[in-house]
Amino acid sequence: MSADIVYLNGEFLPADQAKVSVLDRGFVFGDGVYEVIPVFGNRLFRLEQHLDRLERSMAGIRLSNPMSREAWQSMLEELVERNADGTDQSVYLQVTRGVARRDHGFPDGVTPTVLAMCNPIATMDPEVAAHGVAAITLDDIRWQYCNIKAITLLPNILLRQQALDRDAVEAILVRDGLVTEGAASNVFVVRHGVLFTPPTGPRLLPGITRDLVVELARKNGIDCREEDIPVEALSQAEEIWLTSSTKEILPVTRLDDRPVGEGEPGPLWRRLYDIYQEYKRALREAAA
Ligand code: PDD
Repeated sequence: MSADIVYLNGEFLPADQAKVSVLDRGFVFGDGVYEVIPVFGNRLFRLEQHLDRLERSMAGIRLSNPMSREAWQSMLEELVERNADGTDQSVYLQVTRGVARRDHGFPDGVTPTVLAMCNPIATMDPEVAAHGVAAITLDDIRWQYCNIKAITLLPNILLRQQALDRDAVEAILVRDGLVTEGAASNVFVVRHGVLFTPPTGPRLLPGITRDLVVELARKNGIDCREEDIPVEALSQAEEIWLTSSTKEILPVTRLDDRPVGEGEPGPLWRRLYDIYQEYKRALREAAA
């Protein structure tokens, strides 16, 4: 990365000079929300959808939006411009309730803390495209507002680490017998050639990649249904995928130490993955 410039509370500055108070409620309470926005060809990918979700997350924690839509957009574009080096990146954007003496109740008259920074996005490892990844299933121990993209991620971290400890890349979460999502991704399942993903609601984050995969599948004549997925359906699945802004569409070929389908990335994954890459290529070309 050329510069490693971050945005903090109205200023662009080198990452090692960006400092936040120890009294910040993000630090003390995890009282804030965030977004992760991919940048392809120096263009913010699906920016409108990410900003819509950020607004919903802020409203969800009763945090008043400190910036107009235009101000968000121009700040993020300037950040990308200042860090542009032609590689794929993601912008991490965080808004906390601000700096105040520690007290659970909301403080009066406090300005939210806004931080945005760029991180590199790794392109998919050919090994993963050829053989897929392993995942495990775990009980979804999180709270009841998983549609809010809150920075308070301790349950997700503990769940993901359990997966890593078992040589898997992700934990697929199950609540009341139904698949919700991954610790940091959404879940898709193929059964009898039909693509399923759980419907949005308070049990899962409405992923921007998820929505795009649903949109691209339907546009390309693939039967895609937003329906509850009972946990038993996982062991009968022909294919399982994980989606996120940084992982795109990952084929899961082992679940709980057993092969998924044939134990190789499936044909529908290959098709959707190519359609997704083509969609990105077209955007890049339009931006060039
Ligand atoms: N996480 N569900 C959860 C719990 C997530 O944390 C994420 C993404 C997703 C996928 O959403 P999207 O397609 O909009 O990235 C679903 C980000 C990448 C993160 O926390 O780093």
